[in-house]
Amino acid sequence: MWIVLGRRLSSGGGSEPFGDFPKKLTMRHRFHSLCPYFAMFPESFVRKHLTLASTKSVVLDCFSGRGTTVFEALQMGHQGLGIDVNPLAVCVSRAKSAAPTVASIRQRIEDLEARFGPSDDDPLLSDEFFRMCFAEPTLQQILFLRRELNWRDNQVDCFIAAMAAGCLHGESHRSQRVFSNRMPRTISTKPSYSVRWWRKHELLPPERNVFEILRAEADFRFACPPPHGTGVVIEGDARKSSTLLADWARSVDMVLTSPPYLDVTHFREDQWLRVWFLGGEPFPCSATEGDDRHANVDRYWQFLAETWAGVAPLLKDTAQIVIRIGGKKMSFEAARAGLEQSLFQSFSRVSCLSESTSDIRNGQLRSFRPNAEGTRREFDFVFSVTA
Ligand SMILES: C[S@@+](CC[C@H](N)C(=O)[O-])C[C@H]1O[C@@H](n2cnc3c(N)ncnc32)[C@H](O)[C@@H]1O
Repeated sequence: MWIVLGRRLSSGGGSEPFGDFPKKLTMRHRFHSLCPYFAMFPESFVRKHLTLASTKSVVLDCFSGRGTTVFEALQMGHQGLGIDVNPLAVCVSRAKSAAPTVASIRQRIEDLEARFGPSDDDPLLSDEFFRMCFAEPTLQQILFLRRELNWRDNQVDCFIAAMAAGCLHGESHRSQRVFSNRMPRTISTKPSYSVRWWRKHELLPPERNVFEILRAEADFRFACPPPHGTGVVIEGDARKSSTLLADWARSVDMVLTSPPYLDVTHFREDQWLRVWFLGGEPFPCSATEGDDRHANVDRYWQFLAETWAGVAPLLKDTAQIVIRIGGKKMSFEAARAGLEQSLFQSFSRVSCLSESTSDIRNGQLRSFRPNAEGTRREFDFVFSVTA
């Protein structure tokens, strides 16, 4: 499934040619593929565990990523809560779990288009990477949206920002709904590498009308109705969960999550162009807060112990913690021991209800970063914990 997981990433949504929607609706909700995220677990994993939860449970993912747990919880009639330190994860998770009406999205796109005006003095208009990544009229529209969208405080803008982030880069020779020159959809390649590659292959960016694409995207995504309930997704560090979600103290029935894998990827850096679009720096940079990647095994387990300490005050007296985890060179035994020891620091009783291992393919990560090593196996655990 996850990192690597080209195989398991949906190519739905953004990769159909403009106007050429799949002929029959599949069971997969179209919000799932709103925007790719480099490391994600499949809906089936989440649904399998939510099916076992009591009705109307409160379900938390403290490493929300693209928001599958929160979204599926709402779809299945539960309450969904999410936390993530990465603004892209927050924007996408929130868009899916607090979707506005499609009419309000269409109206906002009309208003934005009517007010659109190019800028003369944005320094990125003369930046080599940005000039080769986007045709100038397209870049002007992207820069305008970046200035205008108040995605953190407005649900309509959040959904439009998530759609735009999803279309920002990808395989534009295959899809008319991609704004950029050819790039992987799943990961933002580094500027110097991208420029070299475009030059070598003599590729120029396509001219795309961002407003038109966003209208088509909205129609496509809302062919499936959004869930009825509204989720809560907070931007912040999982270790501060009890403060960030203070209103939910002692009310969470299940934590269903996948922490960053040990020494595998750097989420902010791998999505740097989308993070830029949401207000970040115009170059790849590491997380400035939170611990986005851990290379040191002791610090990694310490980080998870601190996470459980942050989450514990939110849980009911007895709760379930469902975890998918992995890492370079992490064995099953090390994963189980590390999790149990870290959980025991915050709970009086910890029992492992089930455990399993699965192999993952190394397609996506290796194909974009030739020397990159992904994790090969991941481990699923279900724990029952008592305060
Ligand atoms: C394995 S991914 C989760 C993927 C998610 N299950 C999905 O399907 O999309 C781990 C997530 O943890 C987030 N993260 C890393 N450090 C964090 C921290 N200290 N607090 C909160 N989130 C963090 C990353 O931004 C990333 O989105």
